Amino acid sequence: MRTISKADLNWMDKKSRSSVEMSDKKFRPEISDTDVSVEQYDEIILGFPIWWYVAPTIMNTFLESYNFSGKKIVLFAISGGSGFGNTVSELKLSAPGAVIIEGKVFHKAEKREIAEWVRSIL
Ligand SMILES: Cc1cc2nc3c(=O)[nH]c(=O)nc-3n(C[C@H](O)[C@H](O)[C@H](O)COP(=O)(O)O)c2cc1C
Repeated sequence: MRTISKADLNWMDKKSRSSVEMSDKKFRPEISDTDVSVEQYDEIILGFPIWWYVAPTIMNTFLESYNFSGKKIVLFAISGGSGFGNTVSELKLSAPGAVIIEGKVFHKAEKREIAEWVRSIL
């Protein structure tokens, strides 16, 4: 486990970490925090950047690490311009029994703007 660098995010380099992680839909990057108390919550707000028109595969790792059955998962994402694309259908496979809802895609959003949106859906 290591922090992410600028080189990792270079989508023009086929060998960069993000390119490798996204080259195979079955790739499951390791997550460092494996002790989230998911069972305490009925609704989860899940945020991530859009990578290659979908959620990064590490989001599949996260969903597959816990039991989200019966829970509602509201998504938000940050992108350079794309929408959710196939995000929901790809994440659904990793969270059987959960209801996954497209919340909002932000383009270059400020933290404050995201916080306001979160408050608006609570
Ligand atoms: C590997 C990679 C793939 C990306 N793919 C897309 C994409 O398909 N569509 C899009 O709108 N933005 C894409 N982006 C831009 C990211 O969504 C954006 O960098 C992220 O939301 C964070 O924003 P910031 O770079 O301003 O911090 C991609 C970025 C990376 C690093």
